Amino acid sequence: MIKKYLVIGNPIEHSLSPKLHNHWLKKNNIDAVYDKKKIDENDLKNIVSEIKEEKISGINVTVPFKKSIIPFLDELSFEANETQSVNTIYLKNGKVIGHNTDIAGFELNIRHCKYDVKGKKVLILGAGGVVPSIIFSLIKMKVSKIIISNRTKKKAEDLKNYFKDIDIVDWGVVTNFDMIINATSIGLKNEDKINFDYSAVGMDKFFYDVIYNPKETIFLKRAKLFGNRTENGKMMFIYQAHQAFTIWHNIMPDIDEETIKLLD
Ligand code: ATR
Repeated sequence: MIKKYLVIGNPIEHSLSPKLHNHWLKKNNIDAVYDKKKIDENDLKNIVSEIKEEKISGINVTVPFKKSIIPFLDELSFEANETQSVNTIYLKNGKVIGHNTDIAGFELNIRHCKYDVKGKKVLILGAGGVVPSIIFSLIKMKVSKIIISNRTKKKAEDLKNYFKDIDIVDWGVVTNFDMIINATSIGLKNEDKINFDYSAVGMDKFFYDVIYNPKETIFLKRAKLFGNRTENGKMMFIYQAHQAFTIWHNIMPDIDEETIKLLD
């Protein structure tokens, strides 16, 4: 029987995971199909039981279920447990395992663009689903300081339960930094912009936006105008998918020009 894979989330219409995974499945002659499914909180339990019953072979989880799916899983990988965030699910020895490939996705992206993040001061805007993974990844890469700024301060403070050494500042406060990461949803709509005093931050900083569609948010566009280095989240997305594919199929698919173009 043809193997079935899924990405679940809400909303899910714009997910590019099926495009990427189906491309790699075809390239590697694997008899499987990867679909997307919009679900509600109430569906989580049933979807996970389909993994146990081997009706589905693997699931990617996206916003807003990366944390709320955890109670329905049998085991978490070290990374998923430390971040309380799951984006990849599979069955191993009869147990449903939750893993986090966003961490490796972010790290591989930073290494791919050859930015030396070690010893750097990083300001993160936002405290949503992907932020614990980015923090974990940054700590692993030995940054010197992580500062979080989120509109709802409580959500930033909650992150302190997992990561004791982070600093929290009020939304709108721009601290001194080497690298700044937009992990909010501001910028998804073309006209969205973050109020930010670019002239105050210098011109040799690294601006990273998790958003890759649009390709260049106003956040990145303006940063570039002021002479800073920029990078969007496209390679992070590709690398997290690459890691999930490798786990499920025991094959490392190619990340070539054709793959990267799929997401343009
Ligand atoms: P979730 O929070 O459900 O995981 P997300 O898309 O991962 O969803 O996170 C959205 C992030 O963008 C949050 O940090 C959110 O801030 P709040 O915690 O205050 O909601 C942030 N965000 C979205 N719209 C924003 C806006 N107009 N101004 C400031 N922050 C915004």
